[in-house]
Amino acid sequence: MPYPTHPHLRLDSSRALGGNIINGWRAYNLTSDRQSGLGAWSDAELAQYLSTGHADGHGTATGDMADVVGHSLRYLSAPDIHAMVVYLRSIPPLHTAEDALERTTPPAGDAALPQNTRGARLYASTCAGCHMADGTGRQSSFATITGARSLGADNGRNLVQVLVQGSGMQTATGVQIMPHFVGGGLSDRDLADIASFVMTHFTTATPHNMEQAVQDAKRAN
Ligand code: HEC
Repeated sequence: MPYPTHPHLRLDSSRALGGNIINGWRAYNLTSDRQSGLGAWSDAELAQYLSTGHADGHGTATGDMADVVGHSLRYLSAPDIHAMVVYLRSIPPLHTAEDALERTTPPAGDAALPQNTRGARLYASTCAGCHMADGTGRQSSFATITGARSLGADNGRNLVQVLVQGSGMQTATGVQIMPHFVGGGLSDRDLADIASFVMTHFTTATPHNMEQAVQDAKRAN
């Protein structure tokens, strides 16, 4: 007789790696699902993210993950990083539809920003100094937001968290600082419009209730 397994127990233990909400941030799905997990990342991209906090085309660690990389993972040896990549690869895919999907990025290099929406104009005046019109970082690839997972979730949770809290990470080339935009003259609607603009301009996400998301993020902090 086959050993009886408990289906719910199995589901629950794998759900733990399907991501969760922690301190208002979404900890991403680490399973090998191609759309909601890490299945579309190459081994090299995973290793780059774990060891530096940034992977080209996928984004930069923020929030608690920035601390984990900045204070700990970046000191690991290459074989240890490799072992972690091998482990992550071994996690069976679990699709989580609710948040943070990998999105195909529209063709980059769109140097001319549209000026026809409030969000686009605010991005040009508030963000493009560091993130450039085409979403690439001015000083380093840490500030490249094209392809960032935080832009690809329809509720923009981590994007809004970054705008409300800012983010900072220790790297081999110094501290990378993303400023926060609370109390600096931008209204909740301004932040919502900026968030909606970057989501639709740089990814195929469909923002909804962004002003509410900004208010929720402010309340949570
Ligand atoms: C003073 C420079 C600066 C300005 C101004 C700035 N950023 Fe950033 N931003 C950064 C840097 C550097 C990072 C990466 C470091 C980090 O996240 O700790 C970053 C990270 C981000 C991330 C996280 C990327 C990811 O992969 O998840 C998002 C989203 C973002 N910025 C959006 C914006 C938006 C929208 C604005 C305008 C409201 C803005 N930033 C203004 C420098 C800046």
